[in-house]
Amino acid sequence: MNKNNIIEVLKQVKYPGFSRDIVSFGLIKEIQLDNNNILNLKLQLTTENPEHKNQLTNDIKSAINSNLKPIEAVNINYIGNASPQKQAENIQESKPQNLAGVKNIIAVASGKGGVGKSTIAVNLASELSKNYKVGILDLDIYGPSLPMVVGISETPKITPEKKLIPIKKFNMKLMSFGFVSGNDAPTIWRGPLVSRMTQQFFDDVIWGELDFLILDLPPGTGDIQLTLVQKIALTGAVIVTTPQDLAVLDVQKGADMFKKVNTPVLGIIENMSNFNTSAVIKNQNGELINGTINIQDNHFDIINGKVNMYFEIFSGFGGDKESKRLDVPLLGSVPLSPDIVKSSDNGEPYVLNYRKSLITETFKSISNQIIKKSLQE
Ligand SMILES: Nc1ncnc2c1ncn2[C@@H]1O[C@H](COP(=O)(O)OP(=O)(O)OP(=O)(O)O)[C@@H](O)[C@H]1O
Ligand SMILES: [Mg+2]
Repeated sequence: MNKNNIIEVLKQVKYPGFSRDIVSFGLIKEIQLDNNNILNLKLQLTTENPEHKNQLTNDIKSAINSNLKPIEAVNINYIGNASPQKQAENIQESKPQNLAGVKNIIAVASGKGGVGKSTIAVNLASELSKNYKVGILDLDIYGPSLPMVVGISETPKITPEKKLIPIKKFNMKLMSFGFVSGNDAPTIWRGPLVSRMTQQFFDDVIWGELDFLILDLPPGTGDIQLTLVQKIALTGAVIVTTPQDLAVLDVQKGADMFKKVNTPVLGIIENMSNFNTSAVIKNQNGELINGTINIQDNHFDIINGKVNMYFEIFSGFGGDKESKRLDVPLLGSVPLSPDIVKSSDNGEPYVLNYRKSLITETFKSISNQIIKKSLQE
């Protein structure tokens, strides 16, 4: 029996109230097995709660007793409470090696599919890339969208150590399962395999120094999400929803998963909020006119030929409701826009294509809030 056997067993012990284990939390400071098969552990606790200490003692002892029979007894020495700073350092230590140079990891997530996670992730990353070193990791195994939305069909290079080098485009580092497995290979992998792949994918990409790594998550609350929130110290998650009340139920499940594992939800982004368009209307003689246009239940005034039209496509206040429920800010609302679709289809992120538009301003405001929060956390 060696130290690794003991560590493997300790990895089964979860910190009370968390789904992350005590090893990845960095709480184990010393492991020592003496000649009489007595195991001495030194743990640094981050809480003063005596119940946590008792529960940990029980959980550790029972894990060791039932898995490592030769061990006769376990002594646990708890050392001082770690400061929040220390706690942060411990979590830092649990980062995979290749993420050591990454300052902030932000997941763009939603329990619901098709709400625009990938679109938001790419534009948020592109906006941040105007002032920061940014990477995007597309973790959608089943339907990776990064290859299309940034127009990349090349395969990343592999180092002799079998590490992947992200592809560089638009001043960002990009990586997607789609670059590796072929864009249109629909794959059905079983859950555990998927989480192992996700973990491996994380471990095997050389990101170098980054201020922000934006993760584009697949929809749902499945294995990928769990692997992520349990194994990787995320700075936080941004939740995407549409305004529909129906969407919100699924979105809630996704958001609650992050809360449960103590990953901060930085805020909500409402996507496809409404549709704005404007037109200039002239009569047959080419003169600007005044009047009203009726489209379904909406009435729009034409004043000196100009009409601004605003449609609420989905009824409901999904973003607002969810932000209130979670007590986190609504970071912004992104309207439906044909130009967003066009940009995705052309493989050029919207905010890089339309640098002065209102929607780009919205992404700028969202990214500024995220910058502020990331620096705080
Ligand atoms: N604000 C928007 N205006 C217009 N079209 C949009 C907008 N946001 C997203 N779309 C379009 O909606 C579709 C779905 O968006 P996207 O792929 O980003 O969603 P997703 O949540 O990542 O989906 P999935 O759950 O499949 O990963 C895409 O065709 C995208 O171009
Ligand atoms: Mg997507």
